[in-house]
Amino acid sequence: MCTIIEFKNVNKEYKSGDHILKAMNNVNFTIDSGEFVVILGPSGAGKSTLLNLLGGLDSVTSGEIIVNNQHVESFDDNQLTEYRAKNVGFIFQFYNLIPNLTALENVELMKDIVKVNIDGLSVLDSVGLKDHANQFPAQLSGGEQQRVSIARAVAKQPTMLLCDEPTGALDSKTGVLILNLLQSMSNNQNTTVVIVTHNAILAEAADKVIRIKNGQIESIVVNESPKMGTDLDW
Ligand SMILES: Nc1ncnc2c1ncn2[C@@H]1O[C@H](COP(=O)(O)OP(=O)(O)O)[C@@H](O)[C@H]1O
Ligand SMILES: [Mg+2]
Repeated sequence: MCTIIEFKNVNKEYKSGDHILKAMNNVNFTIDSGEFVVILGPSGAGKSTLLNLLGGLDSVTSGEIIVNNQHVESFDDNQLTEYRAKNVGFIFQFYNLIPNLTALENVELMKDIVKVNIDGLSVLDSVGLKDHANQFPAQLSGGEQQRVSIARAVAKQPTMLLCDEPTGALDSKTGVLILNLLQSMSNNQNTTVVIVTHNAILAEAADKVIRIKNGQIESIVVNESPKMGTDLDW
């Protein structure tokens, strides 16, 4: 196992008027390559902040974020764009699909940006949506839209899949399906998967569980025998 992600003394402050809010307060952890990690915490704990910092969507106030031996916190805008394009697949809670593009077009969207040959149909097939390729987001169920958003993130073969409450808006059956899909990405393709959620049930499926509260790490536990998504008690 080798470390692919390291947070070192990471701080993130938001200013509102003369009040300073510490959304990340001296956060330290490491994640191994191919690991399936669940970051657990209540609403407002700093989960989205952490994921956005890791994904290069936001910048630290101080501290270091090291990914693949590169210092993300020191990247300029061009380097950040390249980092996001090459390394990061983002899965958002509310899908963020483009409404006037079909499922297939949404998945193949990255073709022009990343220099990877994306076979959108085969990726849609892998999430069970081959027959829905030409439907628009509004013509798909919530679970199907989430699977399109996963297909879009997976299609560019990122080093890391970063998922913000990926099962938050789904029924339990679809949630299990999505979780299995993410687990198989980690197990079979060595993709590093980081899920942030308030749902403690997901933690049972993780290789590592990082608990955060008020912007601080509460505990880091390595799970010796993670459950399969299908075996979780939803
Ligand atoms: N852009 C922002 N400006 C000011 N405060 C923010 C901003 N984003 C997040 N926060 C605050 O930082 C804290 C952590 O937020 P967030 O990371 O979204 O938590 P979570 O995703 O765990 O619910 C919250 O108190 C939130 O209000
Ligand atoms: Mg959040």
